[in-house]
Amino acid sequence: MFQSENILEISSLTKAFGGLVAIFDLDFTVSRGIIKAIIGPNGAGKTTLFNLISGVLSSDTGDIIFNGQPVTKYKPHQLAERGISRTFQTVELFSEMTVLQNVMIGRHIRTRKGVLSVGLKLPASRREERAIFEKARYYLDFVGLEEKADQEAGNLPLGQQKLLEIARALATEPKLLLLDEPAAGLNETETEMAAQLFKVIRDEGITIILVEHDMNLVMNVAEEVLVLDYGRKIADDKPEVVRSDPEVINAYLGVDIEYA
Ligand SMILES: Nc1ncnc2c1ncn2[C@@H]1O[C@H](COP(=O)(O)OP(=O)(O)OP(=O)(O)O)[C@@H](O)[C@H]1O
Ligand SMILES: [Mg+2]
Repeated sequence: MFQSENILEISSLTKAFGGLVAIFDLDFTVSRGIIKAIIGPNGAGKTTLFNLISGVLSSDTGDIIFNGQPVTKYKPHQLAERGISRTFQTVELFSEMTVLQNVMIGRHIRTRKGVLSVGLKLPASRREERAIFEKARYYLDFVGLEEKADQEAGNLPLGQQKLLEIARALATEPKLLLLDEPAAGLNETETEMAAQLFKVIRDEGITIILVEHDMNLVMNVAEEVLVLDYGRKIADDKPEVVRSDPEVINAYLGVDIEYA
């Protein structure tokens, strides 16, 4: 099957909340198999953009093409089935369930009965349940949380909760992974480990869009950087180009990003 070079193509995308225009006439593309960062000041529209791409919000105007297919009005579960998965700026886990159960929920999206069967406690076939269990363990292992499998998710420190969210997102076997500030609240060592993890995920063939304020992390992992300001694109280029763009420096930090 023909695969377009871009996994994601966004054109003329606009979203307003009442009089507040959060995303305005935005165009950009994401090449397949890269890590693309989205940066911009607080309120620039980064999370809103993720909500639009993942179907949580529907746009006022504009088009979203994912994997060669128009998906503009698709619902979150339709997008999840087609290969878009995400994490949240504020961690959203089932805190009283175990770490393993949280990943198994992600995995249920891939199976016949879907995520509802977990909530309704419909029995999956034993073989199906076994497969979900095995895959969930695989993704826990992948992010280095295998020893925490039976702990309550809410008892994990923040850094590990963020890894768990990534494992849950990976368990849906996405083509495109949206990470909303995955390093916020992590210490330096955890951030370095996260950077390595993102590269491994990318090398597995999963495209990543990373919203992040940690400029060292962005410059370390991203192949392209899109800069938003008041919902508009002010730069979209390689990190080294964006870093020295006067408009970016002015809008985003007021100082040279290198020394921020
Ligand atoms: N559901 C909503 N209803 C009304 N206004 C909203 C809603 N969601 C976001 N906004 C507003 O839209 C603008 C963009 O918000 P958004 O959360 O997308 O910014 P952001 O770039 O993710 O910021 P941050 O870096 O602080 O996470 C902000 O002015 C915000 O207050
Ligand atoms: Mg945000």
